[in-house]
Amino acid sequence: MTDEPTAKRRRIFSGMQPSGEAHLGNFLGALKPWVELQEQHDCIWCIVDDHAITSGSDPKELPRRTFDLAVSYLAVGLDPEKAILFVQSDVAEHTELAWLFNAVTPVGDLERMTQYKDKSQQFESVPAGILNYPILQAADILLYRADAVPVGEDQRQHLELTRDIARKWNAAYGDYFPEPEGLIGTVGRIVGLDGNAKMSKSLGNTVGILADPDEIWGRVRTAVTDPQRVKRNDPGRPEVCNVYTLHGHLTDPLRVEEIADQCRTAEIGCVDCKRILAESISETFAPMRERAEHFRRRPDEVRDVLDHGAERARAIARETIGEVRERMGLDWRSAVPSG
Ligand code: TRP
Repeated sequence: MTDEPTAKRRRIFSGMQPSGEAHLGNFLGALKPWVELQEQHDCIWCIVDDHAITSGSDPKELPRRTFDLAVSYLAVGLDPEKAILFVQSDVAEHTELAWLFNAVTPVGDLERMTQYKDKSQQFESVPAGILNYPILQAADILLYRADAVPVGEDQRQHLELTRDIARKWNAAYGDYFPEPEGLIGTVGRIVGLDGNAKMSKSLGNTVGILADPDEIWGRVRTAVTDPQRVKRNDPGRPEVCNVYTLHGHLTDPLRVEEIADQCRTAEIGCVDCKRILAESISETFAPMRERAEHFRRRPDEVRDVLDHGAERARAIARETIGEVRERMGLDWRSAVPSG
């Protein structure tokens, strides 16, 4: 008998901006897959507060939002025993490497980013941070020489740029950085309860992962369904209904099939369908709410997790920066004759 070939462990990095408590879209699109990835790989999960300052975050709010996202990370089951959990600004090497990457990043590439084009429209005077945002993202990833990065479809371009930066840097200073692979859209785009935009807190088309069953029902009740199903007796079309799509992510697969049949034959109405969805969400969230409660009552534990995570991250980051500085000629002491 031969051993099963074990899948190669990879180093995986991803991060999320600290917008406070995570929501259903964050959970389905990112956090849930991350929890699975940490079982098989060496994962580094970051809270990217240095990125948040480019979107005009309020300094009075930011610490709380960072803390709340950390609680969400722990609540969904990101595990400091299995992965490194930390806050970006605790590891200054991120911003240092971002500066060094400025040397190999064409401004034209940055200006081509669709996110930049969208975001920059909102400003009369565009902050350089909006333009340079993807350089910092590349630094986040390459600082740990990560092999793979789970991100949403909207980050595909930033990941391509990260690979370009790695390639250009390697060409200039010698092969060192891997070109990280994007693990894109394991789950696909999670459309919000409004039925048309990606779930996001600012659009109010989602529900927080720590919401109680009443809140969940309050939100799900408003969800948009098949627009052609006007009356209770109209046969529904699950394939065009976002509530049905969400069932696919949250409800027992057998029950999901049954719901499709019952919808098509108008055996259940949209309200019934939403009720079941709200229940599925409540069930999914229940253990998370419990864990969040635990950590909220013990903020010191959260701080210790992040302190320890930052320490572990820093150890890797220092090694990378040491190598990068040397190769870029920033180790001036090497010119001092020894002896
Ligand atoms: N830009 C990412 C987003 O908005 C967040 C992010 C910052 C990130 N640095 C990263 C994601 C590094 C993956 C890897 O979703």
